[in-house]
Amino acid sequence: MLTVRAPATSANLGSGFDVFGVALERPADVVRVEKADRTIIDVTGAGSQFIPEDPEKNTVGAVAEALDAPAHIQIDKGIRPASGLGSSAASAAAAAVALNQLYDRGHSREELVPIAAKGEAVVSGDAHDDNVAPSIMGGFTIATPDGVTKVSADIPLVACLPDIVVSTRDAREVVPDGARVSQLVENVGNAATLTTGMHRDDPELVGRGMEDTVVTPARAKLIDGYESVREAAFDAGATGVTISGAGPAVIAACYERDQRAIGTAMLDAFDDTGADATVYQTRIGQGATVY
Ligand code: HSE
Repeated sequence: MLTVRAPATSANLGSGFDVFGVALERPADVVRVEKADRTIIDVTGAGSQFIPEDPEKNTVGAVAEALDAPAHIQIDKGIRPASGLGSSAASAAAAAVALNQLYDRGHSREELVPIAAKGEAVVSGDAHDDNVAPSIMGGFTIATPDGVTKVSADIPLVACLPDIVVSTRDAREVVPDGARVSQLVENVGNAATLTTGMHRDDPELVGRGMEDTVVTPARAKLIDGYESVREAAFDAGATGVTISGAGPAVIAACYERDQRAIGTAMLDAFDDTGADATVYQTRIGQGATVY
């Protein structure tokens, strides 16, 4: 029996659509694996009633198959599905790390990223490395088709998850087909600023680099109250605010001294729209941990 904790993640960070991601110190999924003749999956915890246990339909079933590693897999969800916090990616990441070790497959962490992404594709309909990469490797990751670059950054973050559901599939349908060159220029500048901020552990630069006028405005319409939550977070001291992954969670970068006030301001703003919300005062953390 082997236990792995894999962290929630926040992908995109505004300017890095489908490329940037960060591991969050919390929340996390915990996965336990034991060798078996065929794969059996049990799911407990946050939102488990919505997660299929059939290995053909569950994110970790595809991972077990890709690693030729049948197992009894128990998933304890700390991350609610359809949250924008990399819920399915965390389960896939944990399973990939756990089964790789249980069966002595010898893959490096970076090699496990595309394997875990296959599992993610089962639920999101598309394989993205931007959530699985930070969940496996930790830190801030830049995931491109040529591989993953990791920066071990330390930035305080506040993630606020309203009690509404936005599926990644739906959120991808509203992504515009194209962008103007002026928007491209803006996003290159923002992405470079954000990356520099990660290298310097500078919340100001990271926050400034989270601006995006291409995908975020289209998706904001799916999150009731997004603009007021964003404004409230800025008023309370956030250095940058954007949608986490495909939403509905909203993520703010900040200095540690402002974390509590930002969390309260975001909760209150969601409350004004009639939505209950959960706030995570967190920071960039490490990747999947084996116990
Ligand atoms: N980058 C993805 C999206 C997140 O925003 O749709 C899921 O990997």
